[in-house]
Amino acid sequence: MEMTVQAGNVLDTAADLAILATYEEVGLPDALAGLLEADDYKGSAKQTALLYPRGAVAPRRVLLVGLGKQEDLHADLLREAAASGVQQAQKLQAAQATFGVQGEMPLEEAQAAQAIAEGLALGAYRYLRYRTNLKPEQSFAVEAATLLVENANDAIQRGFATGEIIARGVSFARDLVNTPGADLPPAALGDAALAMGQRLGLKVTVLDKAELEAQGFGGVLAVGKGSANEPRFIVMEYGLPSDESGTICLVGKGLTFDSGGLSLKPNDAMTGMKADMGGAAAVFGSMQAIAELKPKLHVVGIVPSAENMPGPDAYRPDDVVTTRSGKTVEVLNTDAEGRIVLADGLHYAQQYKPAAIISLATLTGAAIIALGHHAIALMATDQPLAERVQQAGDATRDRVWQLPLWQEYREQIKSEIADIKNIGGRPAGTITAGAFLAEFVGEYPFVHLDVAGTAFVDKPRKTYEQIGGTGSGVRLLIELLTSYAG
Ligand code: BES
Ligand code: ZN
Ligand code: ZN
Repeated sequence: MEMTVQAGNVLDTAADLAILATYEEVGLPDALAGLLEADDYKGSAKQTALLYPRGAVAPRRVLLVGLGKQEDLHADLLREAAASGVQQAQKLQAAQATFGVQGEMPLEEAQAAQAIAEGLALGAYRYLRYRTNLKPEQSFAVEAATLLVENANDAIQRGFATGEIIARGVSFARDLVNTPGADLPPAALGDAALAMGQRLGLKVTVLDKAELEAQGFGGVLAVGKGSANEPRFIVMEYGLPSDESGTICLVGKGLTFDSGGLSLKPNDAMTGMKADMGGAAAVFGSMQAIAELKPKLHVVGIVPSAENMPGPDAYRPDDVVTTRSGKTVEVLNTDAEGRIVLADGLHYAQQYKPAAIISLATLTGAAIIALGHHAIALMATDQPLAERVQQAGDATRDRVWQLPLWQEYREQIKSEIADIKNIGGRPAGTITAGAFLAEFVGEYPFVHLDVAGTAFVDKPRKTYEQIGGTGSGVRLLIELLTSYAG
């Protein structure tokens, strides 16, 4: 879909579908008011009405989309309005769509344009790789989406272009999450990183099993042992170290499939576990977007990747694993594998003396019990960093909610026979997983994001989402990273 911004008004511009977002308190243009029965459409948030103006205005069809009260407007409503518009265009097989806001361009112009671009692109996202006999209306793709504004100034153009880049990053993450484990084993995830590096000039290193053995990545190796698909350790580097903003490390859990291993998951809990690389996908999507946005920053994306399977050589409950840091872990449940691979990833991050380490992982089912699907669980060793991440989450509606990481919780993962054990019992399962990770970051400021509830959804939460991978974390990370840029 080609996306552009132009000066103009949706009602004066020819289009197969004009999408017009309106507020409750701003009246409809005269040309449209007569096409509606008085109270059918009020412009309340997310309300829509499809009109056939029959020559009264330039476009063939007009879709009104409500934004609610102007004073309550959040960029997310624009994202949703744009997405529901473009989805209507898909349904109607309207090749050319325009989008406009009735009344003042709200918020900061650049921010509004960015949200609209994200909504248009993400609303149009579909994962069709394995669909072989789609009906034309199922595979129809809108050719062009144009944002029409009174004055298509630089700020708006830049915001719109940024939104397109972020949406591409989110879509990349969704594609990775939606791909079944059989078609995306750790080696393929490594290849995807190398291809991205080639495409965008990132420095990418992928360590294979022999290199992991030589360099003592005991956590990743242990988790990967049960699978015929060998593990990988992926490092993607953007920019150069500088004193101004320091280095930000993003560490993503890259379990391409999690069967639970010998502590096998029951069937209902195992389906969906192709998405257990949702943290890694957020890192991939963010690295891609950062490489395209080119801020002045040094960002290192780190993805320990393995497939957790039962097999003749699988790691066992009762085993003690020596991680790359030298710390030993008593394995009491092989299904608590994410923290074990992340231990190596977090320890690896320390070599950069980072200003911040952010981990992202589909780490615990308990995060879904605590927060459902509407918030990422955040834990932190550094409160200023936590607040910074929280703000980025609020601004982008990739929202987070903080849980405590008190010393008391660390007691739950003490082991008799090793330095630490990999499960802390039923109480506070998300927090004890976070406490485990915090053992491997040294003194560096650390935020952990548990995306178990948000990376993959059975039911879209927003119009700009579809069933499956959401790209959770990408919008947040880009907002956060660009806030560090000098
Ligand atoms: N990948 C799962 C967590 C998960 C569950 C992600 C549901 C997305 C949806 C993780 O590896 C896991 O199995 N965690 C266990 C930990 C337990 C054994 C301490 C869990 O949450 O049950
Ligand atoms: Zn698991
Ligand atoms: Zn897992």
